[in-house]
Amino acid sequence: MAVGAVERMSEAEARADWARIAEEVRRANRAYHAEDAPEISDADYDALKARLRALEARFPDLAAESPTEEVGAAPSETFAKVTHAVRMLSLENAFSEEDAADFVERVRSFLNLAAEAELAVTAEPKIDGLSLSLRYEKGWLVQAATRGDGAVGENVTDNARTIADIPARLSGAPDLLEVRGEVYMSHADFAALNARQAAAGEKTFANPRNAAAGSLRQLDAGITAARPLRFFAYSWGALSEPLAVTQIGAVERLAALGFQTNPRTRVCRSLPEMMVAYREIEQARATLGYDIDGVVYKIDNLALQARLGFRSTTPRWAIAHKFPAELAWTQLEAIDIQVGRTGALSPVARLKPVTVGGVVVSNATLHNEDYIAGRDAKGSPIREGKDIRVGDWVQVYRAGDVIPKIADVDLSQRPEGAEPYFFPHRCPECGSDAVREEGDAVRRCTGGLICPAQAVEKLKHFVSRGAFDIEGLGAKQIEMFFADDQLPIREPADIFTLAARDAANLTKLKNRDGFGERSAANLFAAIEDRRAIPLNRVIFALGIRHVGESAANLLARNYGTWEAFEAAMTGAQVGEGPDWQALTAIDGVGDVLAASVVNAFHQEAERASIDRLVAQLKIAEVARPVTEGSPVAGKTVVFTGTLEKMTRAEAKARAEALGAKVAGSVSAKTDLLVAGPGAGSKAKEAERLGVETIDEDAWLRLIGG
Ligand code: IVH
Repeated sequence: MAVGAVERMSEAEARADWARIAEEVRRANRAYHAEDAPEISDADYDALKARLRALEARFPDLAAESPTEEVGAAPSETFAKVTHAVRMLSLENAFSEEDAADFVERVRSFLNLAAEAELAVTAEPKIDGLSLSLRYEKGWLVQAATRGDGAVGENVTDNARTIADIPARLSGAPDLLEVRGEVYMSHADFAALNARQAAAGEKTFANPRNAAAGSLRQLDAGITAARPLRFFAYSWGALSEPLAVTQIGAVERLAALGFQTNPRTRVCRSLPEMMVAYREIEQARATLGYDIDGVVYKIDNLALQARLGFRSTTPRWAIAHKFPAELAWTQLEAIDIQVGRTGALSPVARLKPVTVGGVVVSNATLHNEDYIAGRDAKGSPIREGKDIRVGDWVQVYRAGDVIPKIADVDLSQRPEGAEPYFFPHRCPECGSDAVREEGDAVRRCTGGLICPAQAVEKLKHFVSRGAFDIEGLGAKQIEMFFADDQLPIREPADIFTLAARDAANLTKLKNRDGFGERSAANLFAAIEDRRAIPLNRVIFALGIRHVGESAANLLARNYGTWEAFEAAMTGAQVGEGPDWQALTAIDGVGDVLAASVVNAFHQEAERASIDRLVAQLKIAEVARPVTEGSPVAGKTVVFTGTLEKMTRAEAKARAEALGAKVAGSVSAKTDLLVAGPGAGSKAKEAERLGVETIDEDAWLRLIGG
């Protein structure tokens, strides 16, 4: 209908028309911005907006609620990135009382505490929401950021300001205070929200955690404001002055500043007291009115927390004791095989849908062929040796957000004629042999990059969050481009030639696959934006087996530049030579990881694909961790003999935090030997090589106590 036709409509018709079109524009806005999945062409979108404006020109009161000025009007909107001043870490998990006891033991031994010395530990509910860091400067809330990958999160300040539990201003707070805690939604609010969403024909949420995350991560803070989110404070990041000397004292201080803190937080003075706290919180779980999935224990004394420090992603001073998983019985309808990016064939159970802990489950992992057959990796029986067959009744369980698993099978209900499952020896995707190496539980496709499943999974990994993280190019779009004959993406390098190929092609992207001119241009810009990228992300993105984000960071920090890394991996031979030794000398790089990286660089097709990619990029150097002013940064240190002021583990952790490399044996590369009483062959070797040797006190003086 032409815009002019608006004038001939009755008022009622015009208003009804406006409401219908406004809803269409809102849906298009959401699809485009929030779901990265445009549903209509740019031309259609613009026509809808023109029509809305024409109607609003006639009835100006409609303009106040118009979606024309919402997210869709500012196409570049996504959340800005925030680099956390102090990394936001996750927690190690304990699944049993034994694991919790091990935690206490590890802490005691790290700190070398005498058996009779008391160790106070706080216990508090582990809230099942999403963590948020709130930065206050001179008492004013200036920034709120999600955890993201721990180092970089999303700026959700406007949204956080709409949450009643989050004070906009604090009085009596340190000049700089980053308060950390969990955003969550109560059961009652979740049920009411889902009812409203369903009534409005909008998507409903699977559980309160998803609802909380979806509500906080809204580009329109007005939507967040309409969602009933809450916040518990339990931790902190950067501070201009300490909050207290104990964890419980710090939590009390946060409460005094006006934050909600969990009323079930308490101090325990022994392992039995921790177990009592665990059971009490577990019993209260059903009546709390919000989801929790375990109990978090934290060493109470903050000076001890500081001594304990962190591993790469978790603190040594805390652990999450998870509640047992939730269970349900259902029927196994089929077993499908998925092929992963490293060729692993993973069996997936397709289940008759069943509700487990409030979530509908229709898929579960079956791990590997031994698991289906009823035995573990060593050949010993599991589930008393019962195998799993299609048609069986199986017990499903899920713990937290992880993929559901199958725990048991009910033989009394096995259908007649059910056959044992034969695990394929050929890749279902490319037909290559699927082989199982000795000692490996997993059968792998040998097709490498010729296997479309491996290639596509590698690409999905390549664009994933810790890797290239290209806006508008997620798993769904990768599948689409992988199957596209006119403008295909079959390997990472193809992503960076996409715009040039599009320019040379008659069948333009903008006319296909739901892409309009604007969305195609945005995609090309997002890709261009990632052409310059830090080394650690490139290494992680390659998707080499065993190389996760933290290993990629280690390698990047160690080699600094792509040129140095590439030369070392090309020169290295598995098991021998100086490049191999330098690689395996990196703390945290074992032989298996090292061999996997070296092999990737020596595998012809894979190497050629890496080279094609690198030719497209500008890879930025990665600096060693900031250890400015550290007298031992970059030095290789060896500890030997008995240390009296701290344990070997603590000495190593502190040296590494100061930028030193801690080696297990003395060589020509050693800069310093720290020798306690009883030092033997290492001290002699150091003397022979002329390596400087000092005692523990001198070491402590050197690093500042
Ligand atoms: S302490 C340095 N305390 O659990 C670690 N975390 O699985 C600081 N969480 O990322 C975290 N309740 O989002 C802590 N009472 C609690 C918690 C809690 C929930 C979340 C948090 C963390 C995740 C780790």
